Amino acid sequence: MDWELRQWRPLVFGLAAAVVAGCAAFAQGMPLAERIEQCGACHGDDGNSRLEKIPSLAGQPEFFVANQLILMREGVRRVEAMEPFVKDLTDPDIEALAKHYAGLEARRSDEPLNEAMAKRGAEIAATRHCASCHRPDLAGQDQMPRVARQRIDYMIEALKSFRDNTRSGADTAMSAAVYGLSDADLEALAHYGASR
Ligand code: HEC
Ligand code: HEC
Repeated sequence: MDWELRQWRPLVFGLAAAVVAGCAAFAQGMPLAERIEQCGACHGDDGNSRLEKIPSLAGQPEFFVANQLILMREGVRRVEAMEPFVKDLTDPDIEALAKHYAGLEARRSDEPLNEAMAKRGAEIAATRHCASCHRPDLAGQDQMPRVARQRIDYMIEALKSFRDNTRSGADTAMSAAVYGLSDADLEALAHYGASR
């Protein structure tokens, strides 16, 4: 019995190691272009989303995209739809994806923009100092995302999730910025953001 185990053990371990190494090699080997195609199915081929409540990534600060992808890979920001696409990303994959999206041009979505709401949003943004973090042109910087030309429906959902503390791993500074605002206020802010 003992003899048999000793004989088999190295073989079993050897096989397991070969399988694991094979999978890792496959995951790391997925070319960047193939990854981008996967992401593009939801976020748009040019990084500008045409799908409801899915954010555009074009023109996002490199640091922001990399940071969010790491948070998602580590399960800190939970996005169910994205789990299969982030779980095997390596750090170099993440850096390359972030660089790719940062270099694309952000375009406004075809959602109808309400000028009156955008104007009201600008007033709320001034009292809440949104520009101090997202910059006056709302193009974002470092870990602060671009808000300008982002999808309106996505921003409304995102702002609600910060206000209601339903976003896992959310930055608490962002929750503080929208604390106590009404749904109508958040909608106005989303129209203002998209209008920039
Ligand atoms: C099946 C659709 C789908 C695919 C494929 C997908 N995503 Fe996403 N992604 C989403 C959704 C939905 C959200 C928004 C989640 C939320 O509401 O918080 C998101 C959010 C993000 C965010 C955060 C953006 C922000 O403004 O907060 C980044 C960054 C991101 N995705 C990058 C990627 C990358 C890179 C890939 C490819 C490796 C990818 N996604 C593939 C659906 C997808
Ligand atoms: C103290 C800095 C700070 C202030 C002030 C601030 N934000 Fe943010 N905001 C952030 C950070 C950081 C994030 C990224 C959140 C995260 O990582 O969880 C963010 C995320 C967002 C998002 C989500 C975008 C996306 O693509 O996921 C929106 C929309 C947004 N902010 C709008 C606003 C508006 C509107 C205001 C003013 C009412 C505002 N922010 C004030 C720091 C700030």
